[in-house]
Amino acid sequence: MNIFLDGLIVPEAEAVVSVYDHGFLYGDGIYETMRSYDGVVFMLSRHIKRLQRSAHLIRLEAPEKERLTDAVYATIEANNLSDAYIRITLSRGKGPIGLDPGLCGKHTLVVIAEPFREYPALCYERGVHLIFAKTRRNLAEAVDPKIKSLNFLNNILAKMEAKERGAYEAVMLNAAGFLTEGTVCNIFFVRHGILYTPSVAAGILDGITRELVIGLARKNGIKVEEGKFYPEDLLGASEVFFTNTTAEVMPVARVEDREFEVGEITRVLRSLYRAEVRRYVSNNSR
Ligand code: PDD
Repeated sequence: MNIFLDGLIVPEAEAVVSVYDHGFLYGDGIYETMRSYDGVVFMLSRHIKRLQRSAHLIRLEAPEKERLTDAVYATIEANNLSDAYIRITLSRGKGPIGLDPGLCGKHTLVVIAEPFREYPALCYERGVHLIFAKTRRNLAEAVDPKIKSLNFLNNILAKMEAKERGAYEAVMLNAAGFLTEGTVCNIFFVRHGILYTPSVAAGILDGITRELVIGLARKNGIKVEEGKFYPEDLLGASEVFFTNTTAEVMPVARVEDREFEVGEITRVLRSLYRAEVRRYVSNNSR
């Protein structure tokens, strides 16, 4: 693939970052994952805004919106892609060993775009298996989950638990024992026709898909409550699903040993989300 690296499109083999880059040395940097449909990057402005917020929260100067937009589309075009997985990575840049960000020169900006690999249809038809991870979600007062940072060990440790237990994804609790999110997704559940999801105050990344799904639900007469919930609330639900940019709305078939059917609200929201993507793509085609 061709990669955007600091202003240039280069072949993958030449897209090389210094071993002194603080992104590599300390996980000091941020990223965004996006998806394009028919050559249109869905919700690109929202992703750029969140990247800029993450940058602000780690006091890293982010490129302007126009530069990021151009970089994303240049990478898609350089690879002749239409339905793509896209990742922007922005790291603190190269500097001598030592934590002080002031030691680093300019940030490193990378954009990767690859053909989008669809999730297996069976995942959407039957749903996937989740567990509760023993690894707790980072405290907002420590490394705020609102920062979509390169320091992903918290989530990787939970993902390893999921894999070790034969599950697809892990739900993390916060230090107080409330539900937060999955390792790369937000969690929703339905009880007595009401849609519930942990609030941002629980210590989560405020997912762009999450926000859209909440809006679509409300617009279509489904009551939504954001709040503090326990694992038992999830286990007592009639439907569970997760959301993120790549998987969209993904049904959950099992949490620990409790099994779920793919329910009506999950199906409705998945199809409303897909319709929203189609609408966005036709309104934003380039
Ligand atoms: N992950 N929570 C976490 C911890 C995430 O990493 C993500 C996204 C989400 C969902 O956010 P959104 O709906 O904006 O994609 C929630 C992406 C897909 C990733 O890491 O590649």
